[in-house]
Amino acid sequence: MKFKMLLVSLFSVGFLFSQELTIYSHRHYDTDKGIFKLFSDETGIKINVVQAKANELAKRLEVEGKNSKADLFMTADAGNLEQVRVNDLFVPVTSKTLDELSPKELRGKDNTWYAFTTRARIIVASKDRVKDGAIKTYEDLTKPEWKGKVLVRSSNNVYNISLLSSMIDSIGEEKAREWASGIVKNLARTPKGADRDQVRAIYAKEGDVAISNSYYLGHLANSKNEKDVEAFNSVKVIFPNQDDRGTHINVSGIGVLKTSKNKEVAVRFIEFMLSPKAQEMLTNQNYEYPVNKSVKPNKLLQSWGEFKIEKPNFEAYYGNAKESLKIFDEVQWK
Ligand SMILES: [Fe+2]
Repeated sequence: MKFKMLLVSLFSVGFLFSQELTIYSHRHYDTDKGIFKLFSDETGIKINVVQAKANELAKRLEVEGKNSKADLFMTADAGNLEQVRVNDLFVPVTSKTLDELSPKELRGKDNTWYAFTTRARIIVASKDRVKDGAIKTYEDLTKPEWKGKVLVRSSNNVYNISLLSSMIDSIGEEKAREWASGIVKNLARTPKGADRDQVRAIYAKEGDVAISNSYYLGHLANSKNEKDVEAFNSVKVIFPNQDDRGTHINVSGIGVLKTSKNKEVAVRFIEFMLSPKAQEMLTNQNYEYPVNKSVKPNKLLQSWGEFKIEKPNFEAYYGNAKESLKIFDEVQWK
């Protein structure tokens, strides 16, 4: 009898220690490594991360099919999360904890994925060269007075694809095309670099106004590179469209994959991502907006004040993506 009990307990200890999670992630931020480590330290559950571009990961999931070792898919764009949902790779998840921590409007349909942060696609403008109130909307960037002054990254980037896709949804395809075409007419240079590079280009006087995700401003402000801090200090933050539909937001989110053999542990990890500890790391180290209401945004974000958010229709972020790419191509947004 004793021997049997010993065997059982040895088996359960072994089981606990052998638990691990495989996460397919397109997130490219150092903060995530710290979060994974903290989760492993607290639970003894090992985390394997496969990091690649979202479309590569989606392709890999498709090829691996039922044999995939992936438990979770996480990324920094709702369009990519929606692609995985539409391809029926996520399993709906219900959890009392998640119901408490996650706002309903920041989830995928049928609780297939959960946002763990939000980020705003803001306008950044030169403090010296752009008067207060001169630019209030995304549409203002297409006015003739900004010819040769607008900076934005390439159209193959998901943040721009989701921005245009949500515009198609909110203002219609024709106006969205006009907008994209107007931006191209006003470009200071052929799109290149990432969001931070657009802010750096304002500082270098290559242009006066840029589109960027909000958290990159936090990274510039807190950079070890003096020039980046100066670039941050040379610009002001504008939350677009406050008098009408609100500022476009995107999310970082995560969902459990159908192939997961560790679904309970996978859900536990999502709960951890929404816990105050992880949420504080996400806002204070990566300057994203927490979704857990008990956690205050980082001080810099607080200094920008509250802003009106455009009610996100995440299904359109992926649903209109093909149309967006077509428009970008037509208007020659490189
Ligand atoms: Fe990013």
